Amino acid sequence: MTLEDFTEFSADDADAADGESSDAADSADAADPPGTGGQTAGDGAHGGTPTGDAPADVTAGSDATGNATADGDATTDGDATGDESSPFERYAVEATGEDDGLGVVSVSQGLRVAEEAEETTLRAFVTTGNRESVRLGKYLIVPYPDGERLFCRITGLEYAQEFRSDDATEIHARRQMRREEFSERDYKFVADLEPMSVVYDDGGDRKRRMTDRVPKPGAVVEEAADAAEIKTGLKIPEDGVFLGHLSVGGETVETAASPPTVDYRLNDDYADGDPLVFRHTLVAGGTGSGKTHAAKNVLRQYLDPDRTYEMDDGREARMAVVQFDPQDEYAQMHDDNPSIDDAYARRLEREGIAHGGHDDTVALVPTTPNATYPGEGHRAERVAFTIPFSLVRDRPWLVAGSSLNDNQYAGLVTLLKRFFRDYGDGGTYDQFVTSLDDPALKEELHESGRIHEATFDAVKRRVRAVPGGVFDGDARPITDLDHTLVRPGGLTVIPTYHLPTSRQKEMFVLAVSSYLIDDKLSNDPTSDRIKETPLLVGMDEAHNFLADADNVQARKVIGKFTEAAKQGRKERLGLFLITQDPQDIAEPVFKQINTTIVLNLGDEDAISSVNIPTTLAGKVPYMEKGQMVVYSPDNSEPVELIGLPRCLTRHGS
Ligand SMILES: Nc1ncnc2c1ncn2[C@@H]1O[C@H](COP(=O)(O)OP(=O)(O)OP(=O)(O)O)[C@@H](O)[C@H]1O
Ligand SMILES: [Mg+2]
Repeated sequence: MTLEDFTEFSADDADAADGESSDAADSADAADPPGTGGQTAGDGAHGGTPTGDAPADVTAGSDATGNATADGDATTDGDATGDESSPFERYAVEATGEDDGLGVVSVSQGLRVAEEAEETTLRAFVTTGNRESVRLGKYLIVPYPDGERLFCRITGLEYAQEFRSDDATEIHARRQMRREEFSERDYKFVADLEPMSVVYDDGGDRKRRMTDRVPKPGAVVEEAADAAEIKTGLKIPEDGVFLGHLSVGGETVETAASPPTVDYRLNDDYADGDPLVFRHTLVAGGTGSGKTHAAKNVLRQYLDPDRTYEMDDGREARMAVVQFDPQDEYAQMHDDNPSIDDAYARRLEREGIAHGGHDDTVALVPTTPNATYPGEGHRAERVAFTIPFSLVRDRPWLVAGSSLNDNQYAGLVTLLKRFFRDYGDGGTYDQFVTSLDDPALKEELHESGRIHEATFDAVKRRVRAVPGGVFDGDARPITDLDHTLVRPGGLTVIPTYHLPTSRQKEMFVLAVSSYLIDDKLSNDPTSDRIKETPLLVGMDEAHNFLADADNVQARKVIGKFTEAAKQGRKERLGLFLITQDPQDIAEPVFKQINTTIVLNLGDEDAISSVNIPTTLAGKVPYMEKGQMVVYSPDNSEPVELIGLPRCLTRHGS
């Protein structure tokens, strides 16, 4: 007997209408009332399954109901008082609430959990009414009889033949082509499940552990719908910095609670490991994918007055955020987003999400003679600064740019050493350039064999090529402004859009960031303020500054940022890098990043560079604005999120 034979047979059998139009679903409905379906009245979804089906199915269907009935009996006649000491009875109580499951654990193709993922076989038969709503990635729960629950996700969905038959035949194909739908009941619909953790109750606390037991054949599989349970199952911290709402396939995961969403948070205290902010964050996404919107929403959380970090001396200190801003967008965080109305604000407050313009925002504006900062679009205070040439004393690479070879660099270092020895910290860039014009100096160094004259000339050319006005401009030096640059609870934005050349932008960004990093890591800091304040250094378009390149400057910068990243935990220094070209960020820095947030990325090299699990990587090219995947192995299982659709501060015009 073939599948077709059976279908025809049941259709004819169920109603006498013409066999062509009445498919098996109709016949199932028709056959339902007198059948077994009546007993499980609320279970319309399963109505079709237990009726006229083949023996295999009857077993599965009756197993679920069988369980419920047996349990029901157990509670009534087993022990009238309902003593809860028997695990069997406890299962009974749960089972009554589970009649809206998606299906049942099937054993027909194996049921096995193993230490190795590839040796695990966990499959669920999905009943006909539930098939449309089942999606890859969905989180499911499979209860064990004793109340523990297996938390898992769907990794595969498959139609399998219900009966042994060949559907690749002329007769089947032609029949199928003549009717509009196929009959669900003719096929098994099976979901592959990946066990993620066992969720259990430990003296009132919900906990998770590695999957170490196999569910019972026939156990009812249901969608995970309890926010706390989902968080436990995925190891998402209860508290922390809000990143977005859990989603699957671009749809938020909904629970029965209010709000129905599951908030994803990044651990931010010392009770449970370290605040992950000090183990560094990368936000990667293509142009227009929503990086800045998402970054502002995250940075805003770190500026919340309630958020403090314990320092080594026992003080609780608020975070200072310094954000490098190539597109002149972040100073807007000073202002409210007009589209956040009272109702939305109340929702944010209910969810513990900090929002609104941040008053303590300062735009610290690089000055050069040939550029003015328009600073439109925000009302933050602005303070001009310049880079004192003295910063170069410990950072010769700042004037080396990208074109000195090692030999020339050594020459530059020698020249700077002599210069600062003679002029002290007050020595200026102009004085240094002038000093290089002294033929006696060149001759002396050449004769003593310390710097060849050709090398001397190359260094001189390079030093002269530094764009005018970067050093010692008409504004306060950044080193005098450390209390403006770093303020506990304050946001400092360093805009660079108004600077005419990329070399100028780069010099300002690298000078200020290395000043911050060096003081943070130093045992003898020039600024106690920088040393003693938890600090988040944010860098948009980070690939422009942290790319790998074969020159002295790049090596020094990468070395510095790598060191900063390694020491970050100890010194309370976090890096927050934002980029559309993650593949360009130097590997040593990249390796130090613990939390990766990926928005839509089209470029394959970029996707593979962010190093996220393949199940997540596959989603990245399809994500819409605000959708993201978060890979933060020390925080949670890898997940997909939807960021807030509105920016918590002003963003855009
Ligand atoms: N989650 C979201 N929901 C709705 N709109 C969003 C979301 N995220 C961003 N947008 C909107 O999309 C546009 C682009 O966002 P954004 O400026 O953050 O992108 P970007 O990735 O930083 O772009 P660029 O590459 O230009 O820097 C903005 O108008 C922003 O308001
Ligand atoms: Mg942007």
